[in-house]
Amino acid sequence: MADLRVKMGSLELENPIIISSGHLTRTGEDIKRCDKYGGGAVVIKSSFLEKEYEKVVKPYAPGLFPDARANFHSTGDGLVFICGLSPIPVEAWAKWFKDNIKEIKTPVIASLMAVSVEGYINGAKMFQEAGAEALEILLGCPLPYLLPHPYVGGASFNPAIVEEVCSEVRKAVDIPLGVKMMFNPLDQSPLQIPRKVGLDWLTIAMAFPAAPSIKLDEIEPVIPSSVGSTGSKVAKHANFVALLGQGDQYQDIHVSVSGGTQTWSDIVEFIMYGASSVQIQTLFLQKGMGLIKEFKKNISDYMDSKGFGLIEEMKGAILPKLLTFDEVIATYGKTKGKIVVSADQEKCVGCGVCEEVCNWGAIKVIDGTVEIEKEICEGCGICVCDCTQEALRLENVELVNKIARG
Ligand SMILES: Cc1cc2nc3c(=O)[nH]c(=O)nc-3n(C[C@H](O)[C@H](O)[C@H](O)COP(=O)(O)O)c2cc1C
Repeated sequence: MADLRVKMGSLELENPIIISSGHLTRTGEDIKRCDKYGGGAVVIKSSFLEKEYEKVVKPYAPGLFPDARANFHSTGDGLVFICGLSPIPVEAWAKWFKDNIKEIKTPVIASLMAVSVEGYINGAKMFQEAGAEALEILLGCPLPYLLPHPYVGGASFNPAIVEEVCSEVRKAVDIPLGVKMMFNPLDQSPLQIPRKVGLDWLTIAMAFPAAPSIKLDEIEPVIPSSVGSTGSKVAKHANFVALLGQGDQYQDIHVSVSGGTQTWSDIVEFIMYGASSVQIQTLFLQKGMGLIKEFKKNISDYMDSKGFGLIEEMKGAILPKLLTFDEVIATYGKTKGKIVVSADQEKCVGCGVCEEVCNWGAIKVIDGTVEIEKEICEGCGICVCDCTQEALRLENVELVNKIARG
């Protein structure tokens, strides 16, 4: 049976499924609940030192419990939501770690935000002294109250801050240490810094800013305000891009990824793109953490069926099989007229959508029968995507790979 264990520095995880920092991990009681489900690890909701927390929250919500108006709406492809910061400062979490950590079987990763480098250093030391097994620094969070603070709001996009915080915290503590960063597709260079300064893992997190949908009958927003959207398939594919941008980095540092996991196979896909672990929040909020057990079995069965004994063996498996944009375009001359669509008349119901979407005029539906002019078909496959009857398929698709690789 496949071995699902992975390592984050010296921290050993029984499996790569991590309950990520968020609404499910706001309090010590939440962590105890998470412990029942057999995740590889659980990350506490990100926390500030008291003094730093006051700098962030007070000007906006004096005297208010900042999670008071957490509010979620399901989009059918994830959540849009508004939420606040953890009301539990590092000092209170440190006490919780001291009093409770021995009873918890699942590795608990502390999570820290700060508005200054001293805040990161002092918070990290406090977590380490309290017995936290590992620490994740959160460098970047799109909550409106954090955006004015360069050391946390958009810190992921500022290489000088990423380098300063990661290297100073690395010097301050010796427990396994990672950093969670947002990702900018136009400049992925900051994501290289954590490995350079000796962190044990990098967590790439993809969430999108989002405004709520509208209830058209009432002409009201589904929730009054929203800070973001999580859990969507778009986030998963954006995360693939972030993983690809890592080049070979995944071989030297544990890359964890967070955003858009909806099924066990998404976890496998993330690993094949180079991740070593996957951090999940939205799916567990929507369907419960009981999924972890089922996912472990599905992943393990899949690995057995494909001959992967270890997560490490499956890691990055897709990367050598992907072609660059230029490589694909270069095959055009040799594949033209060969990669073409063919139809199964028995399945076709003559709806005509394929004719409508064919840019090349290669498809005609005449008296309910689909006719394809193969000489002018460009093999783009949009008709195949649209066919609700699975009556169309592309022939010779494997040619692109064969020709590109010689
Ligand atoms: C309500 C909510 C609160 C969150 N709070 C935190 C947080 O405090 N710290 C953090 O690192 N990530 C936080 N996240 C981000 C999640 O950990 C996760 O990275 C993100 O939601 C993408 O993963 P998903 O698509 O599986 O939800 C939060 C997410 C949600 C939905």
